[in-house]
Amino acid sequence: MNANLEQIKQEIIAGADELHSSKEVYEFRKKYLDGKTGKIGLLMKEMKNIPNDQKAEYGKGVNELKVWALEFIGGLDEKMKAKELQDRYESERIDISLPAEKTEQGNLHPITLIRNQLIDVFAGMGFEIFEGTEIETDYYNFTALNTPQDHPARDMQDTFYLSPEFLLRTQTSAGQIHVMENKKPPIKILSPGKVFRSDDDATHSPMFTQMEGLVVDKGITLCDLQGMLDVFVSKIYGEGTKTRLRPSYFPFTEPSVEVDCSCFECGGQGCKLCKGTGWIEILGAGVVNKKVLENCGIDSDEYSGLAFGIGIERTAMLKYGINNIKLLFESDVRVLKQLND
Ligand code: PHE
Repeated sequence: MNANLEQIKQEIIAGADELHSSKEVYEFRKKYLDGKTGKIGLLMKEMKNIPNDQKAEYGKGVNELKVWALEFIGGLDEKMKAKELQDRYESERIDISLPAEKTEQGNLHPITLIRNQLIDVFAGMGFEIFEGTEIETDYYNFTALNTPQDHPARDMQDTFYLSPEFLLRTQTSAGQIHVMENKKPPIKILSPGKVFRSDDDATHSPMFTQMEGLVVDKGITLCDLQGMLDVFVSKIYGEGTKTRLRPSYFPFTEPSVEVDCSCFECGGQGCKLCKGTGWIEILGAGVVNKKVLENCGIDSDEYSGLAFGIGIERTAMLKYGINNIKLLFESDVRVLKQLND
């Protein structure tokens, strides 16, 4: 019998060398020490077959083997777990002296940047924001703006009609009417938003962004317009940039002007950007046509107004020196990265 116990002991000692993880040690322990199926557990069951006079000695031997095995395998388990913990420490070690990996940082799209800058400039002059809707009625986009059906000025903008009554707004000027219908003067609003025209080349896109300005109060004149636009150009294009007004035509302003700013690239000397003229066309504007005020129920003898419409893509193209409007819509990260001041 003793020889059998000794054989199991040697088997355990030899088997220990084959163990490589605490999970294997767990299985190994079960193989010998499980109460029902373990090899040592089964030895106890043999007791009934042992002659009575040998029972005491046999029992003692098995018990000793069990105590030894518990301690031996327990030691193995401890060692194995300590080794595994150490391995984990090694594999998860962080070298805090390594330079950090460079993380790419996103930034706002140039259109959003310019939009925010314009809002900042005009909010500083007391303008409030009004955002109109992209789908408009023919009335708000044209008729109320003194552009009735068959008016030749409708040809100035190629319109996407959704139905005879509804269209995609061609200009944020549509917002002027909503504001004047709902608010008594004094009015000072800025209306940014997308507009749509069937137009597509290097400097035009079927969808682009405008920023409308409208001021209505007593005694508003073209001088107020130029004063405000002077502040706008010097903040956006740089100190010292000036404006000049040229006569133009819009049905909803009278007089109407095209506004140029002095070339911020060459300072007015003449260069490629300003095509040698020293001036760059930046927006349309004017004194609000009396008919438009009257359409909105505002007494045009008591009040007068000014309005302007800035193209945000155009502003961004000039400011960043981009010659194709599509670059602003393609979302090419290599381009956008360069335009983030
Ligand atoms: N709505 C005009 C356009 O889109 C711009 C404009 C706005 C002109 C306000 C005068 C006054 O071309």
